[in-house]
Amino acid sequence: MAAGSLLFACILTWLSWTGRAWCMGPYRALRDEGLGKGKTPHLDLPKSLMRRWGQYAPWIPAQAYKALPEGCVVSQVNLLQRHGARYPTEGSGKLYKAAVDKLIAVDKYKAEELEFLNKFKYDMGTDDLLPFGAAHQPIGFYHASGKKIQPSINLVIPEAMGSNTTLDDDMCPNSKLNDGDEQSDQWLNIFVPKITKRLNAAAPGANLTDHDTVSLMSMCPFHTLVSEKPSPFCFLFSEDEFDDYQYYNDLNKFYGNGYGAPLGPVQASATSTELLARLTNTSVHDHTQTNRTLDRTPETFPLGRPFYADFTHDNELNSIYAALGLFPQTLLPGRVLDPRAI
Ligand SMILES: *[C@@H]1O[C@H](CO)[C@@H](O)[C@H](O)[C@H]1NC(C)=O
Ligand SMILES: *[C@@H]1O[C@H](CO)[C@@H](O)[C@H](O)[C@H]1NC(C)=O
Ligand SMILES: *[C@@H]1O[C@H](CO)[C@@H](O)[C@H](O)[C@H]1NC(C)=O
Ligand SMILES: *[C@@H]1O[C@H](CO)[C@@H](O)[C@H](O)[C@H]1NC(C)=O
Repeated sequence: MAAGSLLFACILTWLSWTGRAWCMGPYRALRDEGLGKGKTPHLDLPKSLMRRWGQYAPWIPAQAYKALPEGCVVSQVNLLQRHGARYPTEGSGKLYKAAVDKLIAVDKYKAEELEFLNKFKYDMGTDDLLPFGAAHQPIGFYHASGKKIQPSINLVIPEAMGSNTTLDDDMCPNSKLNDGDEQSDQWLNIFVPKITKRLNAAAPGANLTDHDTVSLMSMCPFHTLVSEKPSPFCFLFSEDEFDDYQYYNDLNKFYGNGYGAPLGPVQASATSTELLARLTNTSVHDHTQTNRTLDRTPETFPLGRPFYADFTHDNELNSIYAALGLFPQTLLPGRVLDPRAI
């Protein structure tokens, strides 16, 4: 029964953020109440705000699925999604906690919006997928199928040191020389100081730095997704400021993994060869980061399926876009990126 397979998918996705699913047929029909509204809590925040959360935005449908142009048939679908909402990574979590603790240490706030900190304690976990994110993981697939098909995760690819995987970007040490921080920090120095000044005036003695301010902005998405209700951190900033925050995150991905990273696209060359194999129904030809054992085994890399779903990380997603030429972004030498255009 579908509820059982959903549970199975969720348990597996909890263990790892990334994985693959493909249609095994016969398709299992799902009753509407099996997934969808009941399983994915509403966050009670405007979508316009959640869309400004950069890579931390939860899954939001881009638009309604449109009928195919006349005369076209779909021969294969390859769906690629971020794994779903998770706790902050260990490194980011430490920075967020440090910034929150600076605010908590303040004796007397000068702004009502900060009063919640009198009773606040930072207690978020690290790294693991959230129940909210797990509920979203197969949902794009579910919507794409007109709410009929609910896949279970067929394969979870290990990501431990030394593992070959096409759904993560950890295999090329030299690529880490460009992490995008230099470029996103340039933008941080433009949009953050006035916010830091405002917060420090409202929280005398907190001595927040500009990076602390960005951490506090990140508390809005993370704390909201963890608590499944609007976080009071969201109300410390305006939507325009989240627009600038979104651009900060975009720059970091663009120059860290995407078109602006010298070794960005190459990190998805193996993903491209796997996609080609599926599209052409021929075996994978790759000399980079594929796991040859997995890819030559029909049970772990089946060909000839009509529908594949892959779940990956935000960094690798940006490398994949750049490798496949999706959402192209180019910049003329000497030009500054337009904050509203990326
Ligand atoms: C390749 O996949 C197999 C099967 O899952 C696994 O046992 C092996 O450790 C993987 N090798 C690498 C280098 O990732
Ligand atoms: C903030 O800076 C002031 C002045 O430099 C210093 O006296 C105070 O101890 C600092 N507060 C914290 C929480 O670090
Ligand atoms: C993992 O990738 C390396 C580098 O391309 C390759 O030498 C090795 O054979 C691969 N291992 C597996 C199990 O695919
Ligand atoms: C894929 O190729 C195999 C033979 O290698 C063939 O049996 C199968 O029908 C092909 N599938 C599709 C969808 O073309």
